[in-house]
Amino acid sequence: MGSRASAPGKTILFGEHAVVYGKPAIALAIDKRATITIRESHKDYTRIKSDDLHLEAILTPETGLKLKKGEIGILNYILKALEFYHDSTPLKIKLEIGIPIGAGLGSSAAVTVATIAALDKYHERKTTLTSIAKRAHRVELEVQGAASPLDTSTSTHGGLIYLDKEKMDQIKGDLKDSLVIGYTRSEDTAKMVKLVKERMKRHPKIMNLIMDTIAHITRKARKTLEINDKERLGELMNINQGLLDAIGVNTQSLSEMIYTSREAGALGSKITGAGGGGSIIAYSPNRTRQILETLTDRGYNAMKADPSTKGVLT
Ligand code: PMV
Repeated sequence: MGSRASAPGKTILFGEHAVVYGKPAIALAIDKRATITIRESHKDYTRIKSDDLHLEAILTPETGLKLKKGEIGILNYILKALEFYHDSTPLKIKLEIGIPIGAGLGSSAAVTVATIAALDKYHERKTTLTSIAKRAHRVELEVQGAASPLDTSTSTHGGLIYLDKEKMDQIKGDLKDSLVIGYTRSEDTAKMVKLVKERMKRHPKIMNLIMDTIAHITRKARKTLEINDKERLGELMNINQGLLDAIGVNTQSLSEMIYTSREAGALGSKITGAGGGGSIIAYSPNRTRQILETLTDRGYNAMKADPSTKGVLT
């Protein structure tokens, strides 16, 4: 008996950090996925393996987890999903992943969503996308301590997602052949959220005004995406970037990637995700190749990211 499920990574286009304060955000599922394959095991332990991540671990009910190769990182999400949504019968679990890890591109959400969907299928449980998204968010919260439902919702449902508090809408937008992501290894999201919270405590009035302005930009961006006004969309991204700098999540290398991509023709570019390292997104319809080349020529990691209308697949 076996099952398989895959789920996409994501990039946040508008509203990161502000979403933690109840403001709206827009995220896009991208064409980089995590795939989980589950098979019954005849051994007395569960084996979790990922050739892509050079990772191998053995799990027994008696002795717990033994890491044979690689880092624990993303394994925590699989383990928590197993704890919540599986009994203790031994399994063979394989993870294939094309999303850079720890770069703020939703790798943990994608792995969590795929694991839950594969477990549901393995156990022949009837489920819904809403239920998968909700349970995946629960797993992320348990593992990370803090997380908005943005990543897990986007990875589950796919497409372009507008999240306002708990309400999620799939919205329209033409982002094909328009996006380049530059990435470095990110700071811990929880650490960046805490950093913003501290600045919020020191400057509540100013910070609240900034968060309100980011919310305003995000609402405007939704309309701009719907009418496909490219220039304005880029400009809104650049304004959002200025405010991300103001709340303290920018770094020199992120700035360098942002200005490099603008120089290479991006209509807009900004941090995507928690910042403090991590990734930038550059928006430039039909100029992705130039931006990709310029970023990689200057020694940055970069990739083209196309939208994925498909969320979790089993
Ligand atoms: O870096 P990421 O992809 O984990 O994004 C974090 C986005 C925040 O708004 C900073 C936190 C959150 O949980 O929404």
